[in-house]
Amino acid sequence: MGTATLRVVSLIATVFVLMAFVVENGSGSRILAIFPSPANSHQIVFRAIVKGLLERGHHVTMMGTDPIETDNPNITQIDWSFAHKIIVENIDVAKLRQENCKTLTISKQLLHVTEMFVRAEMNHPDVQQLIRNAGDEQFDVLIVEYFQMTPFFAFAELFNVPMIGVTSIDSISQAHEVVGNVVNPVIHPEISHKFSVNLNFFQRIDALLTKIFIDHILFPGEFAKYDEIIEQNFGSNMSKSYELMNRVDFLMTNVEPAMGFIRPIVPQAIQLGFLHIEPPKPLPTDLQQYLDRSRHGVIYFSLGTLIRSSSVNAKNTKIFLDAFKSLKYDQDLLAHSNVKLFVTQGGQQSMEEAVDRHVPMVVIPFNFDQFGNGDKVVERGIGKSIWMERLTTDGLRQAILEVIENKKYKRNIERLGKLIRDQPMRPVDKAVWWTEYVIRHQGASHYRYKPAQMPAWQYHYYDVVAFLLAVTALLIAALGYAVRRFYRFLAGHRWFSTQVKQKAL
Ligand SMILES: *[C@@H]1O[C@H](CO)[C@@H](O)[C@H](O)[C@H]1NC(C)=O
Ligand SMILES: *[C@@H]1O[C@H](CO)[C@@H](O)[C@H](O)[C@H]1NC(C)=O
Repeated sequence: MGTATLRVVSLIATVFVLMAFVVENGSGSRILAIFPSPANSHQIVFRAIVKGLLERGHHVTMMGTDPIETDNPNITQIDWSFAHKIIVENIDVAKLRQENCKTLTISKQLLHVTEMFVRAEMNHPDVQQLIRNAGDEQFDVLIVEYFQMTPFFAFAELFNVPMIGVTSIDSISQAHEVVGNVVNPVIHPEISHKFSVNLNFFQRIDALLTKIFIDHILFPGEFAKYDEIIEQNFGSNMSKSYELMNRVDFLMTNVEPAMGFIRPIVPQAIQLGFLHIEPPKPLPTDLQQYLDRSRHGVIYFSLGTLIRSSSVNAKNTKIFLDAFKSLKYDQDLLAHSNVKLFVTQGGQQSMEEAVDRHVPMVVIPFNFDQFGNGDKVVERGIGKSIWMERLTTDGLRQAILEVIENKKYKRNIERLGKLIRDQPMRPVDKAVWWTEYVIRHQGASHYRYKPAQMPAWQYHYYDVVAFLLAVTALLIAALGYAVRRFYRFLAGHRWFSTQVKQKAL
């Protein structure tokens, strides 16, 4: 071969290698991202994923309630920040909870407000324009917050792209059920329950009835409303809620198993957790000095982003103030080697921050997953949990002193923090890698767990068990009948009856 030929061959080889690299990279993909929940603790997680995707050179069209401040030209944002106002004006969950409002009542109100903001978000002119001009747009994948807000899933069908469901906390049972993750309600009760582990008999009944109620009454009602929204916005040919729920190609839940979120999951789903955690940034000087100077250390007290301080009632405010006043520790907000303890409502993102910074916790759960999170903190030995409704000044004071003074909590949380950092890649890189994987293979149907679509009675082989029980019952009945007949036959026999009579004498 001449040098010229060699050069051509090597040039072609280079081109192929380059092409392979580009394809392999999956970079420069067009991603549609939809995050409808107007809650900072949700959006902070989703923004981390979007930033990760932008860093890889992808183009992202994002609908969200908390737009990203960036001069990156590769992101187009539809600003839904007005949706926060819909929540603030229509519901105050913390207040309802302190008024001892029932979980079901709160859930129903929350679902009502959800429907309100879903309608408002769909009506945004930019969203309407995207739907009208769908023919001119092209995407490679849809990433969407995967709860029950099905109208947004319709964009996957509209653009004919794979759909990745993500959640900022653990997902609802229905989401797990769709892909085939284990959803056994007495082992993994819905996160709205106050109990999360070692359910007693009555809690198990409660958990099962709740699941039946959600699956057969609550959600069908919600889905009927969402079907109407889907039809209004996408026309009558668009699939309806149940089909759209089932359309999910890949599920990413933001829970870290080492924190105690352990459940058998299928290959079509992954658990992440700690998505929003970034390395600590330097503190503002005044705060840094304040923390450096603190002699006894600092307690960081925060009830998260969803609970407004105005919604903590007078009784509970007094408990907090009295408990903190009686301690020698200063109180303030932040992470620093002088921070001894984190008093938190037990939101998952707060918990993750504490674990990452090795600060043990006293959890005061209010709602939703916070009770379960509190249980996990206790179970992992990284703090204590006191339900808001059982809070007393003395109880809070003792819990604080115990967690600060007993060094086992600090040791446990250091160990857990290190365990969680020990992974092949950062959670956000994992989310990005799997997104590119789904793009490269146009879904992940090769991972689909088909039995997930079987009817429940078949999947749990209720029919087989019922049949075998029926056969067994029949056999026993038949045997009983035969024995009775045989006895009567013998009794009717003269010889036998005389024998019996003689014995009886
Ligand atoms: C925008 O995307 C292109 C590829 O689509 C990439 O080359 C470029 O670096 C990206 N810009 C930024 C600021 O990330
Ligand atoms: C629905 O689909 C049918 C068949 O593909 C088509 O004829 C009809 O025009 C569609 N209707 C709408 C409202 O898009």
